[in-house]
Formats: sequence, structure tokens, C-alpha cells
Amino acid sequence: MVFEFIGRKMTIKSVRGKKRPTASRTQTSRKGTQLETVKIGDDILGPLGTIQIRQPTGTYGLTPASRIGMTAVTSHRQHLFGVGLDWGCGTGCMALTAAKIPTVRKMIGLDIEPANIEAATGNAISNGLFDRATFFHADSYIPFAKSERSELADYTGRIDFIVANPPATNEGDGFGWRREVLRGGAAYLKPRGRVLLNISIQYAASRIEGLCDDVPGYEYHGLVASTDWVPFDMSRADLGKQVVEYADEEGRGGADYYFCDPTSAEEKTINARQALKIYRATGLSPLSKWQNYLFIRL
Ligand SMILES: C[S@@+](CC[C@H](N)C(=O)[O-])C[C@H]1O[C@@H](n2cnc3c(N)ncnc32)[C@H](O)[C@@H]1O
Repeated sequence: MVFEFIGRKMTIKSVRGKKRPTASRTQTSRKGTQLETVKIGDDILGPLGTIQIRQPTGTYGLTPASRIGMTAVTSHRQHLFGVGLDWGCGTGCMALTAAKIPTVRKMIGLDIEPANIEAATGNAISNGLFDRATFFHADSYIPFAKSERSELADYTGRIDFIVANPPATNEGDGFGWRREVLRGGAAYLKPRGRVLLNISIQYAASRIEGLCDDVPGYEYHGLVASTDWVPFDMSRADLGKQVVEYADEEGRGGADYYFCDPTSAEEKTINARQALKIYRATGLSPLSKWQNYLFIRL
């Protein structure tokens, strides 16, 4: 599957080359909130069918990274069963994809934003998955409500898999939440439990494979899903800020990040400082790949 950017609008192209624009519908509620509904079709969910994600203003809207997360869950479905967690569930897209797998009994999504939890719960209901997907307002693996803290604690050592599309951290190398997903998840996972973790390629192999050194207790099992090289759209405020932070990290002596040069016809690797320089001179965003990787608990 390939994600294509046409201007600032994204369309999805299937491997057969047929364009299938993401279906989206915007409504305004009586309170004036914009309610956008995005239909995720079989180009991403394959035999799992379709889901509809409603993303009111103020919730975490679907991005290319969300889509690669859903693609990874779909393509890895033969290995997913039992009970799973979705760390940083947003409006629930990865949890609900997993909940559609017949062998998955239950998904618990965790998110720090109450609006995301409300939207994810609504999406579970509207997709007929409320009996299999539940969402807890939580800071990382710690739900705020006592009853939900105790419900999650009951799953210590009993979770079959975790899915996560974490945000970048603002400090250090931006990779802190990925380490936290593995570190905190270790207590919940059964031996051989799986983690499907979104990590885009610009973090570079040294950080991605190095996760198992940073957080002992896991094996690295490589790539599950990837896009082709696509623009890492620096006009998006969060992504623009990230490249500046990556460049600062390189300046402090951190390992180089790994982008592809948007001005070169060849596949030419550049680091974050070079990416920033090119963007400031040409307005062209560096290229990256949205990806998802597998880690297995020892
Ligand atoms: C990149 S978004 C991914 C959302 C969704 N999984 C998706 O793929 O569309 C990261 C999510 O992590 C949540 N998040 C950030 N910090 C968190 C924390 N400390 N604990 C739980 N969730 C957190 C954010 O609110 C956001 O919804």
C-alpha cells in the first residue's frame, strides 16, 4: 500500500494502483462542534471489513501514522488473539481494528485526553464493538479512575498483545514514549506477548533496534508495515517542530536521524540538520516512511 500526498490532501493507493480516496463526512453538532466521520475501508482493513471513526474537533484526528497502525494490526491479525491494550488510543482506530479480529476477545484503550476517550467509546458503540472494546482515561498505564486502575491491575501478566502509535516526546531524542510503552507494558504482557509499535523510519535503525537494549526483556522482530517514502509534512505544526528538535538532538551529539532528500532523484539519505536546511531553502519537506515494528516479550 502506498500513501500519496496530492497538495496537502492525502489519498490512499492500493497495491493494484487503484486510487481510493478516504471517505470523510463533516457535520456540525447542535453545540457547534465539527464532527468528522472517516470511513476506513477494506483497502486498510482487508477481510476485517470497515470501521467508521468519528473525530470531533479537539480529538486526535487520523493521520498517515494512524493508517499504518491499522494496516499493521490487519496484516498481523493471524498472530493476535485474547486481550490487547492500545496505548495512546486516540479516537480508537487501532483498538477497534484489533477488536474486529475474531480471535481477539477484548481491547482496552488508554489515553490521557478525556475527549479522545469519549470519542473512542462512541466509536466502539457506533461500530457495534462496545462489548469488545473499552477505553480508560489514563496517564500511560495508570488509569485515573480507581475502578479502572483495579481492572487493569487484574490484567497484570495476562495481556496477549499491545498496539501503540505513541507521540514524540518533547525532550531528548523524541523516542521516550516508545521506550515507556515497552517498559510499562512488560508488567502486563504474557511471555511471548507481542507489541506492534509505530515508529517512522527517520528515528534510524540504531534507535529502533536499540529499543531492546534500552528496555531489556524484549526481542526485536522487524518491520510489520510500511509506506513508501512520503513527505514528512513540515507544514504540519507537530512534524515541523519535531524536525527542529531532532536537529537539536543531533547538535547535542545524539545519533543522526534518517530522512530521504526531497531534492534528489536518487534515494539519498540526509540527517535532520540537512533536512531542516533544505526545508528552509526550498519549502520541500524531507521524505520518511510511516512504519510499524514488532517486539516480542521474552
Ligand atoms: C500519535 S497519537 C495516536 C492516536 C491513535 N492511536 C491513532 O493512531 O490515531 C498519540 C496518542 O497518545 C496520547 N497520549 C499522549 N500522552 C499520553 C500519556 N501520557 N498517556 C496516555 N496517552 C497519551 C495522545 O492523547 C494521543 O491520542
